Amino acid sequence: MDGSAAIKPDKYGQVHEQALWQRIGAFEALEKDGETYICRGAKGSAAIIFLSDDMFRVKIFHGEQVDLSSTVAVLPQSGHVSVSVAEHAEQVIFRTALIQVVLDKSNLSLAVEDLDGQLIMQQHPVEWNARGEMHASYAMPTESHFYGLGEKTSFLDKRGEKYTNWNTDVYAPHVPEIEALYESIPLLIHMVEGRSYGLFLDNPGRSDFDMRSHETSFKIGCSTGAYDLYFIHGPQLKDVVSRYTSLTGRMDLPPKWAIGYHQSRYSYMNQQEVLELARTFRAKQIPCDVIYLDIHYMDEYRVFTFDPVRFPDPKGMMEELRSMGIRIVPIVDPGVKKDAKYKIYQEGVRENHFVKKMEGDIYFGEVWPGTSAFPDFTEDRTAAWWGDKHKYYTDLGIQGIWNDMNEPAIFNESKTMDLDAMHGNNGKPLTHEELHNIYGMLMSKATYEGLCEQLDGQRPFVLTRAGYAGIQRYAAVWTGDNRSFWEHMAMAMPMVMNMGLSGIPFAGPDIGGFAHDTSSELLIRWTQMGAFFPYCRNHSAIGTVRQEPWSFGEKTEAILREYIGLRYRFMPHLYNLFHDAAVNGLPVLRPLLLEYPNDPNVTNLSDQFLIGEDLLIAPVYRPDTTHRAVYLPEGTWIDYWTGEAHAGGRHILAHAPLEIMPMYVKAGSIIAEGLLKQSADDTANEQVTFHVYGAAASADFAAAYKLYEDDGVSFAHQQGARSELAVQVAGGSESVTVSWSYSSPGAFRVNREQLGFTLHQPSFVPKAVAGLAQLSFDALGAGQAGWAWDAVKRELHMQVADRAEGGQLEITV
Ligand code: GLC
Repeated sequence: MDGSAAIKPDKYGQVHEQALWQRIGAFEALEKDGETYICRGAKGSAAIIFLSDDMFRVKIFHGEQVDLSSTVAVLPQSGHVSVSVAEHAEQVIFRTALIQVVLDKSNLSLAVEDLDGQLIMQQHPVEWNARGEMHASYAMPTESHFYGLGEKTSFLDKRGEKYTNWNTDVYAPHVPEIEALYESIPLLIHMVEGRSYGLFLDNPGRSDFDMRSHETSFKIGCSTGAYDLYFIHGPQLKDVVSRYTSLTGRMDLPPKWAIGYHQSRYSYMNQQEVLELARTFRAKQIPCDVIYLDIHYMDEYRVFTFDPVRFPDPKGMMEELRSMGIRIVPIVDPGVKKDAKYKIYQEGVRENHFVKKMEGDIYFGEVWPGTSAFPDFTEDRTAAWWGDKHKYYTDLGIQGIWNDMNEPAIFNESKTMDLDAMHGNNGKPLTHEELHNIYGMLMSKATYEGLCEQLDGQRPFVLTRAGYAGIQRYAAVWTGDNRSFWEHMAMAMPMVMNMGLSGIPFAGPDIGGFAHDTSSELLIRWTQMGAFFPYCRNHSAIGTVRQEPWSFGEKTEAILREYIGLRYRFMPHLYNLFHDAAVNGLPVLRPLLLEYPNDPNVTNLSDQFLIGEDLLIAPVYRPDTTHRAVYLPEGTWIDYWTGEAHAGGRHILAHAPLEIMPMYVKAGSIIAEGLLKQSADDTANEQVTFHVYGAAASADFAAAYKLYEDDGVSFAHQQGARSELAVQVAGGSESVTVSWSYSSPGAFRVNREQLGFTLHQPSFVPKAVAGLAQLSFDALGAGQAGWAWDAVKRELHMQVADRAEGGQLEITV
């Protein structure tokens, strides 16, 4: 006998939802309230605020008043933008010095044009339904390419992809059809024929970006909350990144040790094992700055504790490690064990810090410690409480914290907190559904701010798995639980490139792969690549094969030592790029597209990247492979290993036996390399060599570089304790001149006696260097000032005393 289920509506096809979607309707009136323009439509209104000549916010709202508060992602914006407004029969046009925004009065669709009336962006009317979902579609020409969206699977260009932003703990699988991972950065960059603009939907609930389903449009929608959109004009991709980061903030310069090599494992089980690990790094002369403590350091996974048996003397351990130049970064998850005898839990309950169910009871979820409560980081007083608790760690000498499981991840079917759990949100309560994506970022913010207070002027380091737009202000991001698969090594490149375009310069995957067993070859290839990722940590899961650098015998170890060492030799350059990222928001690791936006060969180039502007890295990411195709953009590119010069604008076949990862430097560029060190904040000798590639004896040759340096650990640089050394190389028909100068000598003096200059593949053979003696390479190596020419490698090496007043070298050719 059938029940009523026999006639369930879904058996009769889909209900047409079209009818449910409402639109704002025709224009009714334009009002101005301070800097805000309110466009009233028949069924809703749009508030438009210009933040600069090339950036505006448009928020759809219902009712009389608009709430213009933003999420914490957006930095307070101030200033007046001069906008002219003209109302015509069919349009309202807002004009700044750079763009015009055209509202169609018939339906309040919105177009952005340049001042010549050329269309940049076309938004069709925003629609919403009774469930509170909202979306809009946008014109998508056939030449469209898409970037950004933070941490997503698949290739660099997101055309043809569809993603959801809903911070999710995805242990497996990280495959192209996974639409949501741990981080949500609702920034989409749309590039058409080399011209770009960005759309940032500031909504910390679920949002969807669909560049797949429609032929001539893409769609951006959200499930709850407001359609609060920022338009960010380019036209250069770099402009979009730099403007987006002026809106959502830039990373602070990290401590130098945080950009060294990091070693992790789930878990190093006891104090003895950690100390042994550190001693092994030093004995084997493999540089390392940080060892991580995963969840087993805690007393039954209670945060802010150490297991008293396995780690009886954390302070002593920390001191011994510091004497070896190694720091500890412990994991701190948000789940606080429900345990009546546990101080943090007691305090959290007593002081009302935990997220509550709508009905008022504390919300509990299962995580590593078992039943746990979760701090409500949306409340400033709870964030401050959590931050203060880190004194437990900082008193032990800890300066870095690893935030994990902060999506928040919970071991249940939905993988997270109940959607109707409530967040106090500083007096404006909202459901978890509305704030889900911001939870992890607020945890890292609380952690970062707590550490800043406790570290007495030292820079903290926070690593996070979950995040929202603006996370770069507080934490570095690692890309979660990948696997020891070649495919995951390859995917890390476009993922981290897009994170960089989304404002997160400090990012990287678990090198070697987290889950599954790595192999010697995979670990070699991945470490070669990882040595150039902004965040560089080898991490592996419980139950997998060991993947410390010496785990696969001497040959593997030697190659890993070489590449980890290379990262340390490149440290002056890397640190410089981190400084640039802190100043202008541009990423350290870049898709070629960022530098060559008009080159059609790079729009979806996902398996090579640039470090800064001029260092091209082309990893090998397949097994048993000793050759790979490399695309060299315009210019001449010099093979880092062999010195061979290649004309760009074409593909070459690189030979890459296991010990070689293909690397190329653009002719006309300069890169600073330092000495090999075992830890990044070893400042005993900061000798640096400026490597000049492809110098030419002709008047049109010029190259320049600026080396930023400071103490690498404190905030004193913000008070001027910094050094900037500018180097210039100028060509001429009879001589080539290298000159250098410090911009404010004496503000910060680096420990350095000498400077080196090496000219690789110059177009000339040097005859003399004025004022310098020609020496043997041995004499140069012994530290004497002078020059030497390596005719086989075609390299001119020069060494001089480093003086505050700078200097100049004239090379006769
Ligand atoms: C999560 C993290 C992983 C960590 C593990 C145990 O899976 O992503 O990095 O090792 O938890 O804490």
